[in-house]
Amino acid sequence: MSQNDLMDRLVSLAKRRGFVFQSSEIYGGTGSVWDYGPLGIELKRNVKEAWWSRMVHQRDDVEGLDAAILMHPRVWEASGHVEGFTDPLVECKTCKKRFREDQLDAQECPRKPSKHPGEFADCELGEPRLFNLMFQTHMGPVQEEASVIYLRPETAQGTYVNFLNVQTASRQKVPFGIAQIGKAFRNEITPGNFIFRTREFEQMEMQFFVEPGSDDEWFEYWKSERLAWHQSLGIRPEKLRFHPHGPKELAHYAKAAVDIEYEYPFGWKEYEGIHNRTDFDLGRHQEYSGKRLEYIDSAAGKRFVPFVVETAVGVDRTVLVTLCDAYHEEMVEGETRVVLRFKPSLAPIKLAVFPLMKKDGLPEIARKLQADLRRWAIPSFYDEAGSIGRRYRRQDEAGTPWCATIDGDTAEQGTVTIRDRDTLEQVRVPLEGVVAWVRDRLMEG
Ligand code: GAP
Repeated sequence: MSQNDLMDRLVSLAKRRGFVFQSSEIYGGTGSVWDYGPLGIELKRNVKEAWWSRMVHQRDDVEGLDAAILMHPRVWEASGHVEGFTDPLVECKTCKKRFREDQLDAQECPRKPSKHPGEFADCELGEPRLFNLMFQTHMGPVQEEASVIYLRPETAQGTYVNFLNVQTASRQKVPFGIAQIGKAFRNEITPGNFIFRTREFEQMEMQFFVEPGSDDEWFEYWKSERLAWHQSLGIRPEKLRFHPHGPKELAHYAKAAVDIEYEYPFGWKEYEGIHNRTDFDLGRHQEYSGKRLEYIDSAAGKRFVPFVVETAVGVDRTVLVTLCDAYHEEMVEGETRVVLRFKPSLAPIKLAVFPLMKKDGLPEIARKLQADLRRWAIPSFYDEAGSIGRRYRRQDEAGTPWCATIDGDTAEQGTVTIRDRDTLEQVRVPLEGVVAWVRDRLMEG
């Protein structure tokens, strides 16, 4: 299977099984905006939970925050986004389409898709213009310049403006971090590759405030900690690598930056960004707001504007990576089996429950087992339609790690068969012990 085929099959599976749908599909779709279906939202929630648990709950030195999407417009002047969050655009006078001037090689001429814009004889590209990626709207009833407000293009600024609020309320001492999960919006010129680059997306960002001078050490620490997290999700280590930014790639605010890249079906591309942002952001907000954003270390008798080491990864991009990494096709008993090998803690459904037949009290036993699973908040799925083989295949495509079949022996001897998605092995487990069996395995990670 070629890598193009893999992406096509993944997108089609994602739609068919209810992971991801195109936004407003019945109206022809909205460009690069996606909706998450019943399985997708569970996967997404599990991704966010895994991040929050590792970054906040399992640490003493990181606090959570949920800042608003709409912020004072001066925030984006201070951050440099009004002036600098731009892409160079060129318009073709022939087809009237606009392209990113710095990525012409990655785009197609709409009139001659085998050529890049500018390469076809009819193309007439104009001069590049800078295009700001922030979405604008208006606050209040009057649409005038003074009421312009932006949809945030990153969650980080909400953290910087709350740095002292969180530090004071939580009585944290530097070094400490603030974590956020939330929506961000960018009017991307060349979005695409499914949910890789979209115009509305969610970020999981953490800003770690450190004393200047200790920033290089913390930068190295967060590089390895973040790589370890991706591996803990079950992502194949050989598909992950670091890409340090050279001087030309560095963002205006960064002293050092490294991407964690993943090898997607369309090549090695950014998965997460880790940045040493120095005191740029807090310093600028101090300057623009006129409010001091210093940390006072009374024990050491000093005050300083902390440096920030940031870790920033997209929720949607993590969903894409987990889907790409989990997708497998293999031959089983002469048939192609499509299976999503999610780590069990990420799987939308943990256990599927199948009564072998729709009689002899088997559906009732299966429903009772499902009710027991619900008491422990373990997502399960009841299916009595079709052969057991077909039911297994449906769950393989959903990434369900285990399926329990309720059969005649369950009624007589109180045992069920549990089949493992990856090994295809089947074990008999006492009905009373199924919930504990699943919980033990989920705890193992
Ligand atoms: N606060 C720093 C920041 O926003 P970024 O590299 O622009 O840095 C961080 O974004 C992460 O957010 C990226 O590594 C990616 O995972 C995700 N991301 C950025 N733009 C995205 C987009 N248009 N669609 C989906 N995810 C995106």
